[in-house]
Amino acid sequence: MKIIRVESYEKMSALAAQIIGGQILLKPNCVLGLATGSSPLGTYQGLVRACAEGLLDFSQVRTVNLDEYCGLTGDNPQSYRYFMDTNLFHKVNVDKANTYLPNGVAGDMQAECARYEALVESLGWPDLQLLGIGHNGHIGFNEPAPDFPVRAHTVQLAESTIQANSRLFQRIEDVPTSAVTMGIGTIMKAKKVLLIAGADKEEIVERACHGPVTPQVPASILQLHRDATVILSKN
Ligand code: GLP
Repeated sequence: MKIIRVESYEKMSALAAQIIGGQILLKPNCVLGLATGSSPLGTYQGLVRACAEGLLDFSQVRTVNLDEYCGLTGDNPQSYRYFMDTNLFHKVNVDKANTYLPNGVAGDMQAECARYEALVESLGWPDLQLLGIGHNGHIGFNEPAPDFPVRAHTVQLAESTIQANSRLFQRIEDVPTSAVTMGIGTIMKAKKVLLIAGADKEEIVERACHGPVTPQVPASILQLHRDATVILSKN
């Protein structure tokens, strides 16, 4: 795993946007695996700027997101679909029909997980998967567990995740308690992985990168990925 340490969130974001932009330049119809959360916001702003300046063209890009809350429709401002639409998709020239997220309100969630897994496979797996990391080491919504979940699945969110994500909701009771997420196996199939983390994640990034590979720290599996880069901001 390559770890790049940078001074600030701004530098982390600029670097991540350059790496993703480079991927789009090299393969205009690439499949980008995307993430939500505070960590990638600056990266998306960088991509939006580059697109506005005519440096990047998203017209052929396909995107697959890691996860979605169960029970939230795409027009709910707390949903990850809404986050992606407002922070990236509506601000670049991507074809909305080529942007995919799991459906958090599917009637049959098991069927939805199988559908999403098959969809990501049919696209040929992500060329580049962007990841954030939870304080407990989760990637996507793969929480610490006895095993590494391989495929897309629904998950009960850890209490610490509900706490952490409640900052974006009016009341903690409003935070969904379950989500649908790509599996660890799906994430590992991406040709490149780029994990971005702010200074508050230094300790968990250290454990993920240098500690034992264990499903108790889901991100530690990335030590076994052949092309994983971590950008860690010191401030
Ligand atoms: C959420 C998302 C993850 C994200 C993590 C960290 O729970 N499901 O994909 O990486 O939180 O978010 P943040 O970057 O806001 O700290």
